[in-house]
Amino acid sequence: MNRFELDMEQYRKLARQAAADGCVLLKNEAEALPFKKKERIAVYGRIAFTYYKSGLGSGGLVNTGRVDSILEALQAEDLVLDEKLISIYEAWIQENPFDEGAGWGKVPWSQKEMPVTDEMLTCAADADAAVIVIGRTAGEDQDNTDAPGGYRLTEEEEQLICQVCQKNARTIVVLNVGNIIDMSWVEKYHPHAVLYTWQGGQEGAAAVADVLTGRVNPSGRLTDTIAGKISDYPSDSCFGSEIENEYREDIYVGYRYFETFARDKVQYPFGYGLSYTTFSIEGKIVPESEKSNHTELEIRVCNTGDTAGREVVQVYVQLPQGRLGQPLRRLTAFYKTELLQPGESEVRRIQVADRDLASYDESGVTGCRSAYILEEGQYAFYVGGNVRDAVKAGECYRNARIVEQLQEALAPTKEFRRIHPVQSKDHMEISWEKVPIRTVDPQERRSEELPEELAQTGNAGWKLVDVLDEKVDLDTFTAQLSDEDLIEIFRGEGMCSPKVTAGTAAAFGGLTESLRNYGIPAACCADGPSGIRMDCGTRAFSLPNGTALGCTFDQELVEELYTMTGQEIRLNKIDSLLGPGMNIHRHPLNGRNFEYISEDPYLTGKIAAAQVRGMNRHGIAGTIKHFCANNQEKARSRANSQVSERALREIYLKGFEIAIKEGGARSVMTTYGPVNGLWTSGSYDLCTTILRKEWGFDGIVMTDWWAVANYEGQSGDKYTKAPMAAAQNDLFMVTADAIDSVQEDDMQKQLEAGWLTRGELQRNAENILGFLLKSPALLHLNGRICQEELDAMNRKEEGDVLASDLKYLNDNANGCILIHGEMLSPKSGHADVFGIHLKKEGDYRICMKMRTQLGGLAQIPVSVYCNNTLKTMISIQGSEGKWLETDRELDHMMAGNHYIKFYYGANGLEIDQIRIYRM
Ligand code: BGC
Repeated sequence: MNRFELDMEQYRKLARQAAADGCVLLKNEAEALPFKKKERIAVYGRIAFTYYKSGLGSGGLVNTGRVDSILEALQAEDLVLDEKLISIYEAWIQENPFDEGAGWGKVPWSQKEMPVTDEMLTCAADADAAVIVIGRTAGEDQDNTDAPGGYRLTEEEEQLICQVCQKNARTIVVLNVGNIIDMSWVEKYHPHAVLYTWQGGQEGAAAVADVLTGRVNPSGRLTDTIAGKISDYPSDSCFGSEIENEYREDIYVGYRYFETFARDKVQYPFGYGLSYTTFSIEGKIVPESEKSNHTELEIRVCNTGDTAGREVVQVYVQLPQGRLGQPLRRLTAFYKTELLQPGESEVRRIQVADRDLASYDESGVTGCRSAYILEEGQYAFYVGGNVRDAVKAGECYRNARIVEQLQEALAPTKEFRRIHPVQSKDHMEISWEKVPIRTVDPQERRSEELPEELAQTGNAGWKLVDVLDEKVDLDTFTAQLSDEDLIEIFRGEGMCSPKVTAGTAAAFGGLTESLRNYGIPAACCADGPSGIRMDCGTRAFSLPNGTALGCTFDQELVEELYTMTGQEIRLNKIDSLLGPGMNIHRHPLNGRNFEYISEDPYLTGKIAAAQVRGMNRHGIAGTIKHFCANNQEKARSRANSQVSERALREIYLKGFEIAIKEGGARSVMTTYGPVNGLWTSGSYDLCTTILRKEWGFDGIVMTDWWAVANYEGQSGDKYTKAPMAAAQNDLFMVTADAIDSVQEDDMQKQLEAGWLTRGELQRNAENILGFLLKSPALLHLNGRICQEELDAMNRKEEGDVLASDLKYLNDNANGCILIHGEMLSPKSGHADVFGIHLKKEGDYRICMKMRTQLGGLAQIPVSVYCNNTLKTMISIQGSEGKWLETDRELDHMMAGNHYIKFYYGANGLEIDQIRIYRM
């Protein structure tokens, strides 16, 4: 193995550790866990037989090799599993196969569970312990529901838990779910142990076995508050509208709300999680640190139990209420200890910068408008193992001061009311106040800040690599580009562009001949976040989901893991991963919470920054998404998020800010929908004022796939693309072809009309070129990847096709082969292969007639291979039941035998017929 090859053993090890360290033990009465060797275990629940490695949609389509089930992982342990119970399940599953659903918007969130029988229950009675596995997937384009089979357990699942608990006092419920689910059943049926294991990627099941057997002592902690019921969450009354959601809870998201106003509604607090051992945590403020602009804490953790383990230390601050009003707790630092042996202690000193104690005053109520400020008063620090148990480590006094003066940006234009805390005698009460509204028009701001135009020179012979070699500066290089070049470089191509690695989400940069003549490479980006998505069926490593990574509270581990991912991406000739996903868990039913990290922005930012740093080590850019406030899937391209500027800055933007400033993120994806009336892809304040001017971001910003934009006051529209370019959303993702897309946008028209300036287009081009200058694509194009690395890249396994799989078809007199729909099974991950016999040599084309009942933004890719080589990818967007025909060039083929393969990337496709014909 040369030094560039991926060390798969190490990759598996790190992924398995992350999946295990993310497991959160919520309950463990009478030391129900861990299992001891040779114990007799009865395993219940169909999901024990089919592991959910991740949710679905763009973030879930990683073509992994084998994924073990939890049952298989337990079978590999020194345990005695109840074989009779296994065969009862196997027989039932045969009759009741796993329902794959159709397409990513229609996948069932749960599977039918086997009804409980007496025969099954005798197995529980005979065993030392029973394990029940409950599972949920999650998805894109749809939210979860507060219904049985969604957020809540089904009747069958409840019955299973209820009855097994009655027969076996040592019953353990294992949750293989993307994000939190309703937990009210714990108090009803009293299982002895409950373990959240999330969706742990391809190594997830082995990680579950590590924890159940005690090889790994659980050290995951909840990244969300689990409340008694959905309506307890403060966003619940303003979530799910297809038109507009007012973020009335403002900054009081998750524990910020519950710890301040509704402590008794909490079932499991933020940061909670048990271990097989116990710890004591003591923190104190280091006195001399108070004089500087940070606070130093000394924290001692001692393992007071009898098993080695790791503790998560969490530091919260309580700010003075001042004039702004504050939640009673804010996470301001955290770390994970080393593995501590029984009796062993660890002492660490950590610093909390005043910047992390600051709040944003958008109205000037403190006397300092549009600034991050400290209000005068005592700042109390709490240290502990979760938000509820953290105890006071001391206080420090701060005078009122401005930490950072900014300017109003992205404020709402419509009035609405938000939560404001009021101190009553012994508790905080909710009052409501008006949200300050916008006073600065972002378009006026933009016109005052227009960049200077570079005088166009035409081709002066400079190639992009000359900028890398410092022979010429970027301005001189960019001045060569024509208006067409500047418009075409704004257009990415996808899905599955043949110009880059097969099956990926997009190509961008040098896509046209003219741009390529300047030595601009075509760069490649692929979904993300939990592994590489290559729709042509190329295998990739599947990682634990965002929530699981968050629950590790371990930045070093996540960085190590994503360093391997960075290497894997690089070896696949991809420049950027479309992840991490880092939207805030505003509401437990958001369909994509599984991809995201937490309800807390600080934790979200730190974990995402670790992912980005890891990939950066191999020159791979993490694309942090979705910027910002992408907090529901329903009507995601339409529903307007009405959010105060303070909540945006302190909650919804904060994580992105951390990932950029601390993680060095170089790529950002905007959302499908609008925030405060402006579609994010065309929001100048979001993509320029805040992102670039305040945070100093100098990378690329891309739209989400086929996203729309608007002119203020109008609604989002496909044709409207000039506001994207004007906002410095540099790339529109995706067109079918960067040149043929002229009719699809208003770029040329608005350039001619003077609404969009050449200087703006040149600035966007420079953002993209600046990105390419740091990307592997440029090194490839210029032969600057060493031979050893190239060898590592070229060692790929081709999709094997067995001769016995082949059906043979002959062409007719006109050189045409017809494949009827009945001959195909277009199911996700499946390939149909045919042997074909052609009478004449010639150029052949392929025409597919297909449809899907899915709508709008659903994507179903079909990869077409000839003789084991990918020839084309045909991707259908949701056609809402309409038949569509796509006609493509296939190949030049000799007379004789060939084979052709169709690989389907998702469910929900119907094919009427496929014609392969000679031109
Ligand atoms: C998702 C993005 C994803 C893109 C490309 C969109 O549907 O929202 O997160 O990266 O597709 O697949």
